[in-house]
Amino acid sequence: MKTVFSGIQPSGKLTIGNYIGAIKNFVKLQDDYKCNFVIVDLHAITVPQDPEALREQSEAVATLYIAAGIDPSKSNVYMQSHVPQHAELGWLLTTLTSMGELERMTQFKDKSAGKDSVGAGLFVYPSLMAADILLFNTDLVPVGEDQKQHLELARDIAGRFNHRFGNYFTIPEPYIPEVGARIMSLDDASKKMSKSNPNEGSYIALLDPPDVIRKKISRATTDSGREVKYDPANKPEVSNLIGIYSQISGLSVAEVEQRYEGQMYGPFKKDLAEVVVSVLEPLQQKYREIRESGEIRNILREGAERAGEIAAKNLKEIQHLMGFLPRG
Ligand code: TYM
Repeated sequence: MKTVFSGIQPSGKLTIGNYIGAIKNFVKLQDDYKCNFVIVDLHAITVPQDPEALREQSEAVATLYIAAGIDPSKSNVYMQSHVPQHAELGWLLTTLTSMGELERMTQFKDKSAGKDSVGAGLFVYPSLMAADILLFNTDLVPVGEDQKQHLELARDIAGRFNHRFGNYFTIPEPYIPEVGARIMSLDDASKKMSKSNPNEGSYIALLDPPDVIRKKISRATTDSGREVKYDPANKPEVSNLIGIYSQISGLSVAEVEQRYEGQMYGPFKKDLAEVVVSVLEPLQQKYREIRESGEIRNILREGAERAGEIAAKNLKEIQHLMGFLPRG
């Protein structure tokens, strides 16, 4: 069975962008692949985190995975920091990564822009991400569009390792949806919808109460036209909403357009809100049940145990290829 790896940072509320770009595909892939879905806390601390908030968010993201339909008996769901081989391989691969490659990463440029002091961890973030993926000889990495560049770097690092030390790593392939790989902000369709945006009206959080979701969608920016038509270049706001509609309802973009032919934005947005609520309300109900049951810690422990065995074996092989003396 081929292997899937992906991760989400516990660094803020998850949005419907994370759901459409990533989690929804995790659920889809879990029947056909050996999957690892990880809460990447070591990545989250590359920017300052409040310790209590980090702990809470870690449990929240893990719970959202399960509430969204990831089956922990099929997939390994665990905290990145519970499998120390991530950090160890991260260091090994950092030594194979050039400053120039890291300087070219647009996420680093965006996150460091205008800051007086930028942590070195933020700079080497992509080699830790490469380690996450390569540690399991991953075949497929489901992510949103914004992670494409990081994934290309992981592929380059894998190729470099294989060339220098012998063919060991599988070169991972991205799995990026065609529609919905980049859900945009509700208030500004030139910006990616993001959990770190201080304007809460710009995103739909997975745990937003239904009335908040309805309000946010009704206030979402549109254009002065009146056609519900998918045309990202000329109608970016409406196209973004159609993308969300299509991804959440399972209808194709053409079917959504057809359904609202000749109608104004008002009824379209109203229906969109109901479509989103119809998926998020049961997810939130499940979320509350899992949190109350306290079972998430067990799920995380078992996931880390299973993944840790593979990670330990693979890291030993990698260290051997690189010339490390084994512990006697
Ligand atoms: P993170 O935590 O920023 O985002 C998690 C996932 O959600 C996707 N995503 C989006 N997709 C569509 N539209 C959006 N507006 C949107 N916002 C976020 C992201 O593309 C991502 O798939 N570096 C990763 C975490 C990571 C990782 C890994 C991923 C660490 N190690 C190994 C894959 C494999 C990140 O920052 O994701």
